[in-house]
Amino acid sequence: MKYGHFDDSAKEYVITDPRTPNPWINYLGNEDFFSLISNTCGGYSFYKDAKLLRLTRYRYNNVPADSNGRYYFIKDGETVWNPGWQPTQTELDFYECHHGLGYSRFHSKKNEVEADLTAFVPLHETCEINRLRLKNTGSEPKQLTLYSYVEFCFWNAVDDSTNFQRNLSLGEVEVKDSVIYHKTEYRERRNHFAYYCVNRPIDGFDTDRDAFLGAYGTIQNPKAVRENISGQTMASGGAVIGSHRIVLNLAPGEEQSLIFILGYAENPEEEKWEALNVINKKPALQTIQKFADEKTVDQALADLNDYWNQLLSRYTITCSDEKLARMVNIWNQYQCMVTFNMSRSASYFESGTGRGMGFRDSCQDLLGFVHLIPERARGRILDIAATQMEDGSAYHQYQPLTKRGNMDIGSGFNDDPLWLIAATAAYIRETGDLSILDEEVDFDNNPTKKDSLLEHLKRSFNYTLTHLGPHSLPLIGRADWNDCLNLNCFSKEPGESFQTTGPSEGPVAESVFIAGMFVKYGAEYAHLQELLGNRLEVKRARKAVEEMTEAILKDGWDGEWFLRAYDASGEKVGSSENEEGKIFIEPQGFCVLAGVGVENGYAQKALDSVHRHLETKYGIMLQQPAYQTYHLNLGEISSYPPGYKENAGIFCHNNPWVSIAETVIGRGNQAFEIYRKTCPAYIEDISEIHRTEPYVYSQMIAGADAPKHGEAKNSWLTGTAAWTFVNVSPYILGIRPDYSGLLIDPCLPDSLDGFTARRIWRGCEFEIEVRRADRSNGEQAGTFVDGAKIDGSLVEPDGKQKLHVLKLL
Ligand code: GLC
Ligand code: GLC
Repeated sequence: MKYGHFDDSAKEYVITDPRTPNPWINYLGNEDFFSLISNTCGGYSFYKDAKLLRLTRYRYNNVPADSNGRYYFIKDGETVWNPGWQPTQTELDFYECHHGLGYSRFHSKKNEVEADLTAFVPLHETCEINRLRLKNTGSEPKQLTLYSYVEFCFWNAVDDSTNFQRNLSLGEVEVKDSVIYHKTEYRERRNHFAYYCVNRPIDGFDTDRDAFLGAYGTIQNPKAVRENISGQTMASGGAVIGSHRIVLNLAPGEEQSLIFILGYAENPEEEKWEALNVINKKPALQTIQKFADEKTVDQALADLNDYWNQLLSRYTITCSDEKLARMVNIWNQYQCMVTFNMSRSASYFESGTGRGMGFRDSCQDLLGFVHLIPERARGRILDIAATQMEDGSAYHQYQPLTKRGNMDIGSGFNDDPLWLIAATAAYIRETGDLSILDEEVDFDNNPTKKDSLLEHLKRSFNYTLTHLGPHSLPLIGRADWNDCLNLNCFSKEPGESFQTTGPSEGPVAESVFIAGMFVKYGAEYAHLQELLGNRLEVKRARKAVEEMTEAILKDGWDGEWFLRAYDASGEKVGSSENEEGKIFIEPQGFCVLAGVGVENGYAQKALDSVHRHLETKYGIMLQQPAYQTYHLNLGEISSYPPGYKENAGIFCHNNPWVSIAETVIGRGNQAFEIYRKTCPAYIEDISEIHRTEPYVYSQMIAGADAPKHGEAKNSWLTGTAAWTFVNVSPYILGIRPDYSGLLIDPCLPDSLDGFTARRIWRGCEFEIEVRRADRSNGEQAGTFVDGAKIDGSLVEPDGKQKLHVLKLL
């Protein structure tokens, strides 16, 4: 069942039924000011940091779901309705929510009134604009009263939802003309405030939430709206809202437009005040004036559209499979940009108050956006590297505002260091900018301890080699990519961390997954050293990679598939000898994509085993059989009910590894089948089962052991976005940046005869055409550049601005 449809020409998903299984959201904002917005106008806004500088309140886990938001109540006689259906839930005559790139538009109708609400954050501005157009489509004049509504958050979202003894005595506002200023805590240590305004005179306002809602009132049926009168209340302590009251008289056929702005403004310390305890409103008024008329708003929307079209035009394809094209051209790249902006901070599953930036998460996200914003990727790599420790290990997380490592969780996740090589290599493959390797970068954010980025990579590489276990495989530490495989932890008490309790970093537990990573990114490291002409280091690195490959083939092979690990007692994990958790997905995907076992047939065997034991109609499960009980020696993985999360859920992030692995052994049909199974556009028809947005990836889909097999959770902020893009673009479609050229090496399913692509790479526009050779007409496979056949598949631009590449399969 579907709740809407894609509109590819507008690059939108159009929701036509507000009762989606979950709120289906979108992100507004590109730089500093961000908003989450759902298909019913729910969500919240923040400036830079979703925890520390939150403008509006949101209640996670609320009933009914998804409140608060930016709400517009339209009172038309006795009927009260909202353009986004919530919160009144008044049945609409027509409803559509268009989620587009950086904007959301609500189009609805009720009793011959048409509403058209567009919400977006203009480029380079720190505000959200809501343009609301109301039209009388009937033949009689209409008098409507409009009430706007936002509820302000007292900046620190954690304090705001916990420290009530203080909060309830803090709230302060000012109201001037049509602008409501939220200035809680401005009197002392803050020099920023929020404002909410509309571009016309108002007929009343409220800023005191309890007065607006009434005693024990609800946002579904606020007293002020019911009684059709605003109280001109000035919040003092208590909860602070912004609500404007506007009476509109609409002649038949008449349309009026209102521009609301929810903004963030700050003043230099010396210019904080206009008079005693009166805030200096200048920075807000500048923005308000700028967007007072339709023209600037239209222009800002057009600029935003241009920005996205420009960005996405760096990589586009056309092909007969419209779902593939829409994911590659629009939604997958869009989601990669959202993960760049948000990391794992704010979604409808991540509360914006928890984790900072993950070291490994951020490195992997980069694989998905480096081709879009290489300059910003460069800065991101240097920021991440600066949190690395001198011994090559890494803080598992760092704080986005301070860019410092997070002490609470510390280091010891032994896959982390290698991801830095992955990110840096991807950046250099994209840009050719080797100078990044010379950048001097702190260790542990300490400027007295710095060295070149190349040295950082060397320490990443060495970290694995200095942390090998009894089988010469890498020690796992607190966990590897699978945060929940905690082989050194033994946590027994509720509430204890699964990763940081107990010894955490033992001398025995080893990870075959990290071994596969080492083969992949160790080779990448050797390649970089080769480009720099450091022959001895190349030799050393290649030898270490060879030895690791041998160690995997010897002690990391279980007979039909790759082992997952050895636990702290040296017992096998992910082996046919185990009763539960016999086979895991991660080492099959990563060892094979690194090339391990391709020659001796292990690779194919391992992938066949994945197919046999782990594949379901909704994707590949993380392991099987699921753990039925808690295993002290394995940790958090066995804490989840069977079928969920790392305990045999379909953890979408690692499905592309297997799909890539299939391309490595040349099985295009299998690769595509795996890609398709978790790809949102292909499962739009089962939205009632899948439940999350059909335009973006989710972290997890419930596995076969779960009663709700096929149900997804945790949409948007997941490494799945980056990895599926890596899967489909450089591997299935085979447009793969190499150090000196673009490799054109597709591995297509039989269902796809070919495709064309446009790819900007190092300033050269590649026009790529891939199709099957017409052998009956004497055509042969090969790569042709501007008409001339080349040897192999590597196309070097040689200073050209435009190239036409024909690839015959
Ligand atoms: C989450 C984490 C990621 C981890 C994965 C598997 O997505 O953000 O770092 O690799 O779970 O446990
Ligand atoms: C939990 C989750 C895992 C995630 C981790 C992040 O362990 O199960 O998926 O990576 O939290 O800290």
